[in-house]
Amino acid sequence: MKITVIGTGYVGLVTGVSLSEIGHQVTCIDIDTRKVEEMRKGISPIFEPGLEEMMKKNIAEKRLSFETSYKKGLSQSEIIFIAVGTPQKNDGHSNLEYIEKAAASIAEHVKQDAIVVTKSTVPVGTNDDIKKLIEEHLVSPVNISIASNPEFLREGSAIKDTFHGDRIVVGADDDQTAETLEQVFLPFGVPIYKTDIRSAEMIKYASNAFLATKISFINEISNICEKVGADIESVACGMGQDKRIGSQFLRAGIGYGGSCFPKDTNALVQIAGNVEHDFEILKSVIKVNNNQQEMLVDKVLNRLGGVTGKTIALLGLSFKPNTDDMRDAPSIVIANRLAALDANIKAYDPIAVSHAKRLLPEAVTYTKTIEEAVKDADAVMILTDWEEIKQFSLSAYKDVMKEAIIFDGRNCHELDEAVKAGVEYVSVGRKTVVPGTK
Ligand code: UDX
Repeated sequence: MKITVIGTGYVGLVTGVSLSEIGHQVTCIDIDTRKVEEMRKGISPIFEPGLEEMMKKNIAEKRLSFETSYKKGLSQSEIIFIAVGTPQKNDGHSNLEYIEKAAASIAEHVKQDAIVVTKSTVPVGTNDDIKKLIEEHLVSPVNISIASNPEFLREGSAIKDTFHGDRIVVGADDDQTAETLEQVFLPFGVPIYKTDIRSAEMIKYASNAFLATKISFINEISNICEKVGADIESVACGMGQDKRIGSQFLRAGIGYGGSCFPKDTNALVQIAGNVEHDFEILKSVIKVNNNQQEMLVDKVLNRLGGVTGKTIALLGLSFKPNTDDMRDAPSIVIANRLAALDANIKAYDPIAVSHAKRLLPEAVTYTKTIEEAVKDADAVMILTDWEEIKQFSLSAYKDVMKEAIIFDGRNCHELDEAVKAGVEYVSVGRKTVVPGTK
């Protein structure tokens, strides 16, 4: 089918490229001329494993193209995906400005009957507004159907998730639209769940809020484990074996970040508030997550008796491994707090440094290697569980640092390894290892 994708951020680009991979004729529209020129050459603006190869292949096979003009990009499309950003406003509500602009452009340029599918995460009911907006401004006499198709991609494994996801959700209010979209997605070989539009919109928020809840729950348990002498890794393992609970998203640490969980949990609290429902659990989930990001700094402050004038090495800056995305990364909160306390901050990340420079305090200095960051540090804080950081053994810290004190916010190492290496190792929800003790 002839498909147009509006917006080439993480969601839009992965959607467009994947749909071309399964045989559709896809045009991706973005207003950023420079970005479009790069994408035409097969250069991906985002770091996402497997994406660039797939882009190059489908451009070469003439199934994938990029446009800055809505007129050209929408001239023949049968299905139009809206995948523009819905950033968070100061009050937690979603900013729908880009969605409204996309809808207005569709109304102006669509030339034949089409299905408009919203990929962007939008508050429940927004699709009805999009339909109204398009119909009010339609220039050509065509029929527009609306559908919701929320995305569940994880950054860093977005391509894998697209082809091996647990489900594709299609929200449509008429059977024909649902069936057409089912045909579009069928080649992915992923189960398709069809429902009404408002339920599809809610599935996205509820799924992310539930996963965030799991993380905050295990983080709270980890804080209690530290006080009662239990081990969070064993607790999570024992809990996860119960299939009703499931083992995923039970990794304790310094809390969730990224482009979805913080934004979507805040938005859902607002959505609930708008219908006079006080979403108490979710408010606590957010509060626990905010506290969790501060907790590791508190541990450093207690151990070092303050950080003023001390050198702290931050290892890993992106909100999770295998991505350069710094949106709502715990490293931002942590670096700002350390900078406010006049610590000398050295930071290392395998790929997120250029993004980090825009978001972290100016006082941070960046290093090219882990060794360089930790060499003269009074303490190390592991903030992202990059494979490279996990592979840097605890005895290697001992070799490089005067006194190796490591605060691991992601539980990258076994306690036994810390005992053997003879380093001081403070992690999350586990016993602190002090050299010379067993
Ligand atoms: C998430 C959802 O998983 C995805 O379905 C949705 O579409 C977008 O949001 P993403 O933000 O890419 O994906 O990352 P994810 O792998 O889910 O991790 C989110 C955050 O939670 C990261 O900061 C990660 O470090 C943290 N996390 C995850 C934990 O702290 N513990 C866990 O057990 C799992």
